[in-house]
Amino acid sequence: MFGPRKSLDTITTHLAGQSLAKTLSWPHLIALGVGAIVGTGIYTLTGVGAERAGPAVILAFAIAGAVCACAALAYAELATMLPAAGSAYTFSYTALGETIAWIVGWSLILEYSLACSTVAVGWSGYLVGWVQAAGVHLPPALLVGPHGGGIINLPAVVVALSVMGMLIAGTRESATLNIVLVIIKLVALGIFIAFALPAFQGNNLEPFMPYGFASTEIGGEKRGVMAAAAIVFFAFYGFDAVATSAEEAKNPGRDLTIGIIGSMLVCTIIYMLVAVAAVGALPFQQLANSPEPLALVLRSLGEPKAAYLIALAAVIALPSVILVMMYGQSRIFFVMARDGLLPRGLAKVSPRTGAPTLITLITGISIAAVAGFFRLDEIAELANAGTLVAFISVGASLMVLRKRAPDMKRLFKCPAPYVVGTLAILGCLYLLFSLPSSTIIRFCLWNVIGLAIYIAYSRRRSDLHVPAPDRV
Ligand code: ALA
Repeated sequence: MFGPRKSLDTITTHLAGQSLAKTLSWPHLIALGVGAIVGTGIYTLTGVGAERAGPAVILAFAIAGAVCACAALAYAELATMLPAAGSAYTFSYTALGETIAWIVGWSLILEYSLACSTVAVGWSGYLVGWVQAAGVHLPPALLVGPHGGGIINLPAVVVALSVMGMLIAGTRESATLNIVLVIIKLVALGIFIAFALPAFQGNNLEPFMPYGFASTEIGGEKRGVMAAAAIVFFAFYGFDAVATSAEEAKNPGRDLTIGIIGSMLVCTIIYMLVAVAAVGALPFQQLANSPEPLALVLRSLGEPKAAYLIALAAVIALPSVILVMMYGQSRIFFVMARDGLLPRGLAKVSPRTGAPTLITLITGISIAAVAGFFRLDEIAELANAGTLVAFISVGASLMVLRKRAPDMKRLFKCPAPYVVGTLAILGCLYLLFSLPSSTIIRFCLWNVIGLAIYIAYSRRRSDLHVPAPDRV
C-alpha cells in the first residue's frame, strides 16, 4: 500500500564505492550524540519555553524528554538491527514502504537543515551579547534578519558556512574536535548551575503554570506547558544523528546502544537542573525572548564574569551542534541519492575524505541562507515538526518489524516494544498538534512539494524499481 519495502537481507549491501568508512567507536558516538543534543535548545529556547509556560517550563522539559526517551529506545533497537546509514528513513523504508520512507526522509531534511539554522541563529545571539559585553558594538542591521528590522544575521551565516567547510575537510577530524567542544559546553552548563542554583527563590516558581497545561492561543501566541514542550523538544533531539552514522560504527551493537541511550540520559539530567536553576533564579518574564537567557540570568545575579564565560563557551561550542546536524543531514541526502530517490550523482563520496562533498555544499549553503533571514523560534518549530514525524515513523517501524521479523537478530532489544512504540507515537502526535497552526501549515506545504517530486521523479528512478546491476 505504501510502495515497495527494502529487503531486510540486502539492507547493508551497497554499490561499490558508495559505502562509508567504519571509523567511529562509542566515545565518538556519545560525543556525537551529546554534541548534537546540547545546544540552542537549552542555551536559548529555555527563554522561549519560559515565556510560553512560565516556571512550568521545567515540566515541559520533562515531558519532551520522556517522549524522546521512548523514541530513543526505538531508535536504539532499529539502529542496531539495521546498521545502515539513513536512520528513520532507512527504518521506514524497510518496515513501512517507500512512500512513507520518502516522507520521513524529506522531513528529516527539514529537521537537520533547520536545526542547523536554528543553532546558527542561537550562536549569533550569544556572540553578539559576548562582544557587546566587551564594549564592541557591531552594526545592528547585520545582526538580525528582516523580521527584526535588520538586513541579515551575518554571524549566523558565517558560522554555518564555516562548519560546512570543516565537514568537507573530513569526518574523522571533525568528530575528534567535537569531543573537545562537547566538554566545553558541559562545563559551561555546570558553571551556570553552580552560580544560579544557590540564588533559587521559591516565589519565582509561583504561579507554576500561569497559562495552564494544554497548548492554547493566548494573545496571538500558543501558550501553556504543551506549547513550551513542543518548542523545547528541540533541546532533546540529535541522538538520532548517532543512529544516522550506524554504517560508520566499528561495533554497531555495543557502540550505538551506549551512544544513543547514554547521550539521552546525560542530557535529560542536565536540562532539568538548568531549567530549575534558571526559573528559580529570575522571574520567568525576564527570561522570555532573550537571545542569550543563561548569560542574562548570570548578569542579573551580579556575576558578569560567569556570564561572560557562559557566552564564550556557547560561542566556541555551539558550532559542534551544527557540525553533527549538518553531518547527519548530508548522510540522509546521501542515502536517499544512493537509493535512487534523489539524483545519484549526489551520492559520490570524496576518495580523500570519505565525505559526500557535493551534498554537504548544497546543504551548508541552504542552511546559511535560512539562518541569515528567519526568526529563531519559527525555524525551530518547523524543525521540530519534521523530527516529530520521523519519530512517529520510528515508533511504528519498531512495532511492525517486531511482528514481521520477530526472530531477526537484535543486538539491543527495546523493553515492552508495543508500549514504548505506542507512547512514542502518541507523545509525538500530541507535541506536533501543540505547535502553532502556521508551523503545521508550512510543514504540510513542505511535504506537498516533496510528494510532488516523489511522484514526478523519484518513484520511477528508485533502486527498488530499477535494480542496480552491480550490487555487492
Ligand atoms: N538538540 C539540539 C539543540 O538543542 C538540536 O541545539
